[in-house]
Amino acid sequence: MAGGRLQVAVLISGRGSNLQALIDACAKADFPAEIVRVISNEADAGGLDKAAEAGIPTAVVPHRDYPDRPAFEAELDKEIRAAGTELIALAGFMRLLTEGFVDAWRDRLINIHPSLLPAFKGLHTHERAIDAGVRFSGCTVHYVRPAMDEGPIIVQAAVPILADDDADSLGGRVLAQEHLIYPLALRLIGEGKVRVDGERAIVDEVTDQPTGATINPSPPKV
Ligand code: GAR
Repeated sequence: MAGGRLQVAVLISGRGSNLQALIDACAKADFPAEIVRVISNEADAGGLDKAAEAGIPTAVVPHRDYPDRPAFEAELDKEIRAAGTELIALAGFMRLLTEGFVDAWRDRLINIHPSLLPAFKGLHTHERAIDAGVRFSGCTVHYVRPAMDEGPIIVQAAVPILADDDADSLGGRVLAQEHLIYPLALRLIGEGKVRVDGERAIVDEVTDQPTGATINPSPPKV
């Protein structure tokens, strides 16, 4: 760790709003992590500009240039290791990673997903949550395991699904929470407060325990 700060590589495929939330968090003097490289599989990912503006070295590893996933991931791994990475954070990285890559980075590879896992793995989470009629959705930061959107959960945030929500309105409400919980998860890991016990992530010394339940729809006033 340089200066005691956890060295993080962020992998993206698109606009990079979660990347921006991590950049902003890492800019704080007391934040225990530092982004050492941002890597995209898409050359036109907006997040690359956000990284460049923050002075973070970037790399593009276009998956289409490689004959198969292992070849793509070998190049990805080379870039990641060259930066002295201790933890990989996937932030809207839209490629599935092979078991070989995931196992090589076991418990040093995290992801953010726009649902309350284990519900609604995969794509189109907001439409599917609305269609299913559930009353809450949200987002999850978790350690990555070979199976898609599985792995020990570090932090979740729940938001109510409102009667007139569509995927955009719900997605916006969830995204605002993503921007809070990804930096929170990174802080907890950087401070050494997260340990993995089997398939559970245990967070030590958390002082901000919320109390009570949240009910949606709200019960009528009495
Ligand atoms: C985010 O909502 C993230 O949770 C989601 O893609 C979006 C990326 O936005 N990731 C996945 O769906 C991964 N399964 P961003 O580029 O603005 O951070």
